[in-house]
Amino acid sequence: MESRTKRTLIAIGASIALLAGGAVFAAPPFEGAEYCAECHPGQYNDWKVSGHPYKLRNGDVAQFAPLPLPEGYTWDDISYVIGGYKWKSRYMDRDGFIITSVRTPDGEVPGHNQYNMMTGRWVDYHAGEEKPYDCGRCHTTGYSPEGHQDGLPGIIGTWEFGGIQCEECHGPGDEMSVDTSAAACGRCHSRGEFDTIPAKGGFIRHHEQYNEMLASPHSWANCVTCHDPHKKAEFSIERTCEDCHDDIAAAYAPTRMAGVGVDCIDCHMPYASKSAEALGPNTGDVRTHLFRIETDPAYRMFTEDGAFVNLDPSGQGAVTIDFACMGCHRNVDRDTLAREAENFHDKPLRVIRAVAR
Ligand code: HEC
Ligand code: HEC
Ligand code: HEC
Ligand code: HEC
Ligand code: HEC
Ligand code: HEC
Ligand code: HEC
Ligand code: HEC
Repeated sequence: MESRTKRTLIAIGASIALLAGGAVFAAPPFEGAEYCAECHPGQYNDWKVSGHPYKLRNGDVAQFAPLPLPEGYTWDDISYVIGGYKWKSRYMDRDGFIITSVRTPDGEVPGHNQYNMMTGRWVDYHAGEEKPYDCGRCHTTGYSPEGHQDGLPGIIGTWEFGGIQCEECHGPGDEMSVDTSAAACGRCHSRGEFDTIPAKGGFIRHHEQYNEMLASPHSWANCVTCHDPHKKAEFSIERTCEDCHDDIAAAYAPTRMAGVGVDCIDCHMPYASKSAEALGPNTGDVRTHLFRIETDPAYRMFTEDGAFVNLDPSGQGAVTIDFACMGCHRNVDRDTLAREAENFHDKPLRVIRAVAR
């Protein structure tokens, strides 16, 4: 209860300060996740193996990850590594700029500066451009847009710690506030206007879970309705589809696809979004949170220019059978799959003669 005492003392201190002449009460200082670990070892241990702490790491730390370096660079040249937990890593030089070219024996060559973890490929990101790091508001703890972290000119803003630590969500030190709203996650897991879903190259763009959820049948939910916010995504699901849709789960369980291990999320949360690169036809590398499947084979998921997901007048979107089925059923034609998909959970499944994957 030591912290409660401390909080009370701080509160009394603040009241005295206010009584003494309206002095501004300073926020408590940031302490770092290790401080919280003392009393909250469970949350700390879960969080430590999730993605949040690893979003932005000092080169001195990241070199033990281990991650490869862009050609021609050594760890002495790297100030920070961005990501490198699940999808991709990018690198910052000693001036704080994002590295956008490699050093070959023939000199600087633009590109080959982003490492894609699932394929082990180097690809181009803003090849050859001067690219300052202005991403701190979503990647760090205690961010301020003023100044330059470590005095590096390429970095816009400063922060207390790299990565998303406890205090970015719970407030500094002994504040220990809790915000369970979807918007609290959506401040980082979003892109552009919340009532749009930006897309590119036939995929939804990444870090848009909030935009997607608002356009889904779960728009009423919070992220923590399903997720434990401290855990790695795959281990974080506290409420499964089956928990709330038990009737459909019961109908699906005896089907052949359920028998071979095809899960609700394989159809309803397919990889319709892309962070690093597509892993196959109709297969990106981030699961979508649109949930609803549109079975009309003529339905277009994206706007004419491909820049957004199509939303109906009430703001709702859906994935097409291209993503829901054709990532697996690559050799079955769209019309056949569409027929099978329609009223999917209401009919006895027929065997598709042409099923081949
Ligand atoms: C000295 C022990 C101690 C430390 C250090 C500590 N806490 Fe706590 N924390 C507690 C206790 C005890 C409670 C339960 C209080 C209660 O039930 O009202 C608590 C409750 C919480 C809660 C839940 C609050 C709620 O309203 O439900 C959060 C979130 C939290 N702590 C976050 C943190 C974070 C983040 C840090 C590090 C910056 C931290 N704590 C450091 C002891 C500590
Ligand atoms: C990405 C935001 C985020 C981060 C990072 C985070 N938390 Fe939480 N935490 C939450 C939310 C949201 C809840 C409320 C969960 C709920 O009610 O379902 C919560 C709940 C808690 C609670 C209350 C008990 C519980 O588990 O529900 C404690 C204690 C806590 N967090 C401690 C920590 C500590 C310690 C860290 C760092 C090691 C941390 N949190 C990191 C968002 C976060
Ligand atoms: C609006 C918040 C936001 C901004 C701004 C942002 N990001 Fe991210 N970024 C995220 C989130 C959330 C994720 C993880 C979820 C996802 O990709 O769907 C992510 C993922 C990444 C990853 C992959 C992480 C991994 O471990 O694989 C990299 C690399 C990355 N971002 C780089 C950048 C760079 C560079 C910038 C600035 C030019 C930037 N981001 C700006 C929120 C943001
Ligand atoms: C301050 C910005 C920020 C906030 C707030 C935030 N996130 Fe994140 N989140 C990120 C970034 C950046 C990543 C990418 C980390 C990486 O993979 O390197 C990420 C990754 C994730 C991942 C995938 C990585 C993993 O551990 O499996 C999940 C799941 C996630 N966040 C859930 C949440 C939830 C739930 C909340 C709200 C309680 C939340 N986030 C709030 C920035 C944020
Ligand atoms: C916490 C409970 C809860 C969880 C967990 C949940 N759902 Fe739902 N889901 C609902 C509710 C309630 C609705 C109805 C919303 C409405 O009609 O506006 C719904 C609606 C839907 C719909 C649209 C129904 C329609 O008639 O168009 C789909 C599809 C769906 N959920 C799929 C899933 C999948 C897949 C999962 C697991 C990833 C899941 N749900 C997890 C509660 C939940
Ligand atoms: C209806 C339940 C539900 C809700 C609500 C929900 N998620 Fe998820 N989310 C899931 C499931 C299920 C997965 C897949 C977990 C797995 O890989 O097994 C997932 C995966 C993720 C991933 C990892 C994606 C990937 O491909 O690696 C991120 C990031 C994420 N969720 C963030 C969020 C955020 C942020 C919110 C709120 C805006 C949210 N989720 C709301 C069920 C939900
Ligand atoms: C994750 C991969 C995957 C996805 C996604 C998927 N399927 Fe399947 N499907 C399978 C596998 C595996 C089988 C079993 C093939 C076999 O037994 O020969 C199968 C079998 C079937 C069958 C035959 C079932 C039976 O009872 O004989 C139908 C019909 C079918 N799929 C339709 C669909 C439709 C429609 C979708 C999209 C809404 C879809 N599938 C999405 C993997 C998938
Ligand atoms: C093989 C792909 C596939 C799998 C696996 C699957 N669904 Fe569906 N589901 C569909 C399709 C396709 C529709 C749309 C049917 C329509 O609109 O006519 C649908 C519709 C739904 C709906 C909307 C209500 C309805 O009856 O149409 C809910 C809710 C739902 N699924 C939940 C689940 C849950 C929960 C699971 C896991 C137990 C699951 N689904 C597994 C393909 C699948």
